[in-house]
Amino acid sequence: MERLHDPVLENDWHAVYLTSELKEKPVAVTLLGERVVLYRNSRGVQALRDLCIHRGAMLSKGWVKDDAIVCPYHGWHYNGEGQCVCIPAQPAGERIPLRAKTAAYACEEKYGFVWICLGEPTGPVPHFEEFANPAFRPLPCGPYKVKAAGTRVIENFTDFAHLMFVHQDLLGHPDYAELPDIQVIKEKNRIYIENIPIFQPVAHSGSDKSEGTTYVYRKEVYRPLSGRLSKTDPGNGQTLWILLTVAPVAADECLVFMMVARNYGFDVDDENFIRFQDIVFDQDAQVIESQKPELLPLDLQAELNHRVDVFSVAYRRWLNELGVKVGTI
Ligand code: FES
Ligand SMILES: [Fe+2]
Repeated sequence: MERLHDPVLENDWHAVYLTSELKEKPVAVTLLGERVVLYRNSRGVQALRDLCIHRGAMLSKGWVKDDAIVCPYHGWHYNGEGQCVCIPAQPAGERIPLRAKTAAYACEEKYGFVWICLGEPTGPVPHFEEFANPAFRPLPCGPYKVKAAGTRVIENFTDFAHLMFVHQDLLGHPDYAELPDIQVIKEKNRIYIENIPIFQPVAHSGSDKSEGTTYVYRKEVYRPLSGRLSKTDPGNGQTLWILLTVAPVAADECLVFMMVARNYGFDVDDENFIRFQDIVFDQDAQVIESQKPELLPLDLQAELNHRVDVFSVAYRRWLNELGVKVGTI
């Protein structure tokens, strides 16, 4: 797979794995075409280039010993900084060549995901109160593998007009497809919209409304491939927050992670909420994987942008301003 260069995305954090799934065994992930190995040692999660400098074997096929990852081919040990600290075939006491190292990447665990950054992170993974507040119950969903550009997935996240069709009877109904005027608010590090009412024919599980209800949405894109939304029933204050973040595996392939937090229905089995997200996301993926061109056109003349598409147009403009290259044309 080709290594993709995009300074904006390389210096950004990307969720690449569920923390609950990362156990003793090292695992391989791919981000922007780069193969990365994740493993745990006594200092936490470590992320290294998944390539032994000696003969190019994959470190992710090795194991962890003495806090280091051991290459499965000749047993070289690499510490969390990527420095080789043991060459078993070399006589004891001999110096290990300084060049014997692999790249180490910034790595953080948050919201139930392992986040990595291939370049220089501009700050920590942002903190969102809704996932720390005990009034909400956070639940990781996914990851979902999508054969499409991550930018297409985020644009779909900004879109309201598909809810009544792609998610017909779940999140909307064609008879209630008309959208209100939408104002996009742009700040230095995000774009967002708020107070968008959408009628949903069947209320979510854990709701006391047996009939449909109108939810009020707020949606924000805070990084090129990350956003979050809230969906509130003003009648009873029930609120669902969703964090959606997309790891660009390749230009036209991505892995989608979701954190869902609700302040209601704590007695409802979490599996119900996970299954709901699985169904909804699969509906999105079917459409997204069919879109042409595969990469998101930043030239606003390339597709037909309607007045109702203001948020996705703002997203395309923002990507253009930031200079995001991967997943765009
Ligand atoms: S290839 Fe890794 S130790 Fe030789
Ligand atoms: Fe959708």
